[in-house]
Amino acid sequence: MSGLPVRVTEVIEETPQIRTLRLVRDDGLPFQKRWEAGAHVDVTGPTGVLSQYSLCSAPDDPSALLIAVKRENGPRGGSVALHGVAVGDRLLIGKPRNLLGVAADADRHVLIAGGIGVTPLLAIAYELHSRNADFELHYFARGREEAAFVDFLEERAEFRDSVALHWGVPRAEQPEAFRSILPRVSTRTHVYTCGPDGFMAAVAEVFGPVVGADAVHIEHFEAADVDTSGDTAFEVELDTGESFEIPADQSILAVLEQNGIEVFKSCEEGICGSCVSGLLEGEADHRDNCLTASEKAAGEQIALCVSRAKTPKLLIELY
Ligand code: FES
Repeated sequence: MSGLPVRVTEVIEETPQIRTLRLVRDDGLPFQKRWEAGAHVDVTGPTGVLSQYSLCSAPDDPSALLIAVKRENGPRGGSVALHGVAVGDRLLIGKPRNLLGVAADADRHVLIAGGIGVTPLLAIAYELHSRNADFELHYFARGREEAAFVDFLEERAEFRDSVALHWGVPRAEQPEAFRSILPRVSTRTHVYTCGPDGFMAAVAEVFGPVVGADAVHIEHFEAADVDTSGDTAFEVELDTGESFEIPADQSILAVLEQNGIEVFKSCEEGICGSCVSGLLEGEADHRDNCLTASEKAAGEQIALCVSRAKTPKLLIELY
């Protein structure tokens, strides 16, 4: 297991299902680099399971990192293990990576969170506040008692006037709630969303035609739902000249690893972006949730852990 050793210095039980962990470097030093708002890190918990969590502290605070962990009953049990850690326990974390980012040229920023999706948007709110940028944060959850950071958002002066809390809005009525934000949006506004896939799709549907698809920034934390029943074999050639057959039931990443080729990876679900590599020839069948729509359309990159080929052969440059 690799990563930077960190120690848990505080555990905040936000709700019965969500807890926030404050992490400091185990060697007592500050975190060295200012990380980008919206970034996530790999966290290896006490059972050795590696999962990704968005950083939700202020990006310019080097003293500690905050992650919020929602207990999920998935097969790997990573979040359940992190619900068992206590102050003083040690974890490993990777370097912050960012797929979300803050647009430099926007006149206004609209942040729309669904449930635990508030975490990367909280870091972006810190960043926008520090830039004195114009923003509003909308936080949708089933109820106040199921939402994290509510007291914090209501009490902190820098957020209080920019935050709207939406409790118990039925899914069918969410697009209407999104549309009520449109009067404050221009073609130079950027929209950031994180939450369940259907929630984010509705955000994109409402705001995309107004601000443009590329100005709607989506942070996925779930793998895309893909039908793999029609998958067939194809060939991958690396820019080094080596060539591999990718069987219908294996990923490019798996085949490369089986052949002793080291590839950066983390989630292996097409979410984190670690394995994204250059695509020099051929057309990808993109199945990830980390490349943007325009990056996929440009056809110059591919997520090796999930994506496949629409052409008989792909020529790939490993990053
Ligand atoms: S390993 Fe995370 S996107 Fe491929």
